[in-house]
Amino acid sequence: MPAGAVIGAQWGDEAKGKVTHFLAREADYTVRFNGGPNAGHTVKDGYGTARLHHIPVGALHPGCVGALAHGVALDLWTLRDELTALRAQGRPEPVLRFSDRLHLILPQHKLREELGGSAQRIGTTRRGIGPCYEDRAARRGLRLADLADEEAVRSSLQLAVQELGACGLQETLSVEDIVRELAELYRQVESRMGDVRAEIATALERGKRVIFEGAQGTLLDLDWGTYPYVTSSSTTVHGVGWGTGIAVTRFDAVLGVAKAYTTRVGEGPFPTEDTAAGGEHLREVGKEYGTTTGRPRRCGWLDLVALRYACRINGFTGLALTKMDVLRGLSEVKLCVAYRTGEGRTDVFPTRTGELMEVEPIYESLPGWKEDLSRAREEDDLPRAVRSLLAAVEGHVGVPVRLVGVGPAEEEIVTLE
Ligand code: GDP
Ligand code: IMO
Ligand code: MG
Repeated sequence: MPAGAVIGAQWGDEAKGKVTHFLAREADYTVRFNGGPNAGHTVKDGYGTARLHHIPVGALHPGCVGALAHGVALDLWTLRDELTALRAQGRPEPVLRFSDRLHLILPQHKLREELGGSAQRIGTTRRGIGPCYEDRAARRGLRLADLADEEAVRSSLQLAVQELGACGLQETLSVEDIVRELAELYRQVESRMGDVRAEIATALERGKRVIFEGAQGTLLDLDWGTYPYVTSSSTTVHGVGWGTGIAVTRFDAVLGVAKAYTTRVGEGPFPTEDTAAGGEHLREVGKEYGTTTGRPRRCGWLDLVALRYACRINGFTGLALTKMDVLRGLSEVKLCVAYRTGEGRTDVFPTRTGELMEVEPIYESLPGWKEDLSRAREEDDLPRAVRSLLAAVEGHVGVPVRLVGVGPAEEEIVTLE
């Protein structure tokens, strides 16, 4: 796969980190193109558990460069802390590149997120994501390259503080402290900053292997997700062009990542949510607590209406179905194959949030299994019940399953022909 994208097919946390890390063993570059430190991508390898918010997971492999393209919202403070945590695990220093056009998340963005009420209303990760992308669209953001001009930084921050002043909050931000900290943080990344688009384009021309690592998931996309309960960036395959400047015609594979069930953090519709014993099983066995915020994730069954929608939006060439091991021990596994609405049965994923709140899932039940999957590596190692589940998913969404997650560790994955 010279160029491929790994895209979340649900509401985030589908195990994109683990899947990207697996595929990046042979990659030259891994590129983040959207989102920022709202992402929490987990990798479990020989050094321990890495929880990455900014650094592309492929960069954990020596020999793979991690690039942050301009579509990412960059929090330099988070980046610094993340590098410190990786060093504490004794890992080799990751090789990184930063686009000079990256928009910066600044302290005022987090304050505005609290004041504006979106943190509570949407249940955001409180990382300043929305306000940073708002400033970008309003043409008053600060970009990484701008940090070379201290006066420009100062006046941009003064303007932001003046605006917050109207809310009586200007005392909480000290412009001079932020200017000083940003100058120091900039010194740490300056030598690795440049034209990421040109570097990736050249790498592709030379036949290098590049993986684009999506953050969040299709149903959190600003346009294609369950608006307004979404994030503020483009989380689908279309975000790769938006966030890197690399044309989609370059790709030979677009892999959608979905859990064998569904989770969601934050507010918003979730038709297959199970607030009873089934959901509790998924949360406890699947350890469904947020990587970024520690919040318990809402849990429920695999929603094939939503997954088929994600397949159509992204043109997935294959699927990775993760956390299959979590379903072990259930007497039956439920698959939502359609929705019931006031007008009858439908397999269309509705645009209007109010409508999605009201649909009732129509389930098909498949038999469960008792076997431990953790040592399975190929199709023949999987019990018959798991193979039936994979066939049912493929039949409903029309996309082949290529990988199956059978545990959190890097080697716990089944490759299908
Ligand atoms: P991401 O944001 O899509 O990268 O996903 P997260 O890292 O936020 O959440 C996925 C969680 O599931 C992490 O704690 C992973 O270590 C874990 N995980 C990944 N794949 C599997 C799997 O196949 N089985 C189990 N049990 N856990 C997994
Ligand atoms: P990864 O990359 C799961 C959710 C938040 C909230 C909404 C908006 O780890 O899959 P934001 O802070 O982005 O403005 O919050 O989006 N959200 C995620 N949920 N995984 C993520 O990232 C998420 N990033 C944002 O919970 O509902
Ligand atoms: Mg996550």
